[in-house]
Amino acid sequence: MILLVINGPNINMLGLREPGIYGKRTYNDLLDFLRAAAKESGVELELFQSNSEGAIVDIIQWAYGKIDGIVLNPAAYTHTSIAILDALKAVSIPAVEVHLSDPNTREEFRHKSFVREACVKTIAGKGFDGYKEAMLFLKDYITEAAL
Ligand code: DQA
Repeated sequence: MILLVINGPNINMLGLREPGIYGKRTYNDLLDFLRAAAKESGVELELFQSNSEGAIVDIIQWAYGKIDGIVLNPAAYTHTSIAILDALKAVSIPAVEVHLSDPNTREEFRHKSFVREACVKTIAGKGFDGYKEAMLFLKDYITEAAL
């Protein structure tokens, strides 16, 4: 089983970026965490980060036929991107929406998620652990769907 983890804009700035909200660990720390979690969970991983909406649409389209599930933190595009929503709907790959912080307890403009309706689950406010929870959820979800 291959999962694709997509991180959107400014997630590459973790560590430097608003550490009071996102913590002091860096994007490289997140990649190490994801690789370790995948090994433990027995899944293969593709890792992708971009600051560009179009590049995120492109990788979702690329995933069709190659990837079993998507763990997606669209970052700020969560609250703006109908293009990412449409790409997820186009490929119909099970996806879990993940946020390090909990956008629902932050500014009102973060309360709306356009991608949510194309995702099988949303996990927010659990930091790095949320990505692991998403991987484990997708592993079970995809295994059950194949039965
Ligand atoms: C975020 C929450 C978004 O509102 C914000 O724009 C981000 C990160 C999170 O992981 O908590 O960049 O997706």
